[in-house]
Amino acid sequence: MTFEAMWRELLPVGRSATSGGYHRQPWTSAESELRAWFAEAALARGLELETDAMGNQVGWWRPVAPTGLPAVLTGSHLDSVLDGGAFDGPLGVVSALAALDVLRDRGFEPARAIGVSVFTEEEGSRFGLACLGSRLVTGATSWEAVSRRQDRDGVYLGDAVSASGLDPSGDLLSLVDVGCFVELHVEQGRDLVDRDVAVGVASQIWPHGRYRFDFTGEANHAGTTRMEDRRDPMLTYAMTVLAANKQARLVDQRATFGRLEVTPNGTNAVPSRVTAWLDARCSTDDALAELVETISRQGLDRASRDGTSLTVTAESVSSSVTFDLDLARDLAAIGDWPIIATQAGHDAGILSAAGIPTAMLFVRNPTGVSHSPAESAEMADCLAGVEALADTLAKLTS
Ligand code: GLV
Ligand code: MN
Ligand code: MN
Repeated sequence: MTFEAMWRELLPVGRSATSGGYHRQPWTSAESELRAWFAEAALARGLELETDAMGNQVGWWRPVAPTGLPAVLTGSHLDSVLDGGAFDGPLGVVSALAALDVLRDRGFEPARAIGVSVFTEEEGSRFGLACLGSRLVTGATSWEAVSRRQDRDGVYLGDAVSASGLDPSGDLLSLVDVGCFVELHVEQGRDLVDRDVAVGVASQIWPHGRYRFDFTGEANHAGTTRMEDRRDPMLTYAMTVLAANKQARLVDQRATFGRLEVTPNGTNAVPSRVTAWLDARCSTDDALAELVETISRQGLDRASRDGTSLTVTAESVSSSVTFDLDLARDLAAIGDWPIIATQAGHDAGILSAAGIPTAMLFVRNPTGVSHSPAESAEMADCLAGVEALADTLAKLTS
């Protein structure tokens, strides 16, 4: 099946009829459908399918004569952010399957196993920890550390995994035989557009983190409570959002409050509590720590003036990742592709941090928009990405 045909099959899965965006949260029916789709696509190619306790999947193409050489893994994720785009994740998975087809059409026989992988809950959109599947597989986190996490409806991680038909007490994928990982991904910025090229290679992922800000005050009547008598956590929150924006701008880094819960969320009541999530990203680990510290300090200072309180909890932190530069240069030389940095997180960063030589290929995104229904890539660029990935896998496994 061609890239275009696979892409068409995935387009309706988890798509909102109103926004056109995708809701492919892990361990939901949309994600189960995608997992089943991947299993069928792998089996149809004669790949040996592995699915682990969390739903991470690999389809293996083994060499005809085993060589004992470490395997090359390539793939991405099929889950999405809330109301996300079609490309972030699925492009890497569909391209990996299509690249295998290209290699077979060329009559290529790999000297190492090639695995097409799908890691689960990459976006952390349901349980708040980015790259949950690859973190568990690499030992970057443990089941004990994450099992008490709850989603927005209070469902525990283990219950969500079980409800989707998996057994969370089962085995996880083993990556001991993996010598290299390559993730192809839609670019989430405009670097390749500006350079007028369809494909690029990653150099670095900026450190980034998610921090929960709990602002607590006193619920009261919106009409009868004098302005000077209020302990309004919304006010402290509002000032903290402005501070985050200003501080990030001052140092040319990134800070976003994109998620908010207000209790009790009534129009005619001063709220008792506001919980907001900060996403912060910087060019170095020290700059990230400093930015979060400055925003927290300004929030605390404002809380003391508002008669409210603030606690800050780190929920998901990913340190700076520098990809294997020799590998990046080798791959870039295949097509004279530029080597570029990214501010977005990826499973590739987790595997790289676990000591697996890792590379990323980016495919041009004409608008740069991502984590939005408007995310896009031209079909010609997607096909150029497939060829680039096939060439990359041929180089790594011949
Ligand atoms: C994942 O795409 C992230 O950068 O948050
Ligand atoms: Mn994403
Ligand atoms: Mn992604």
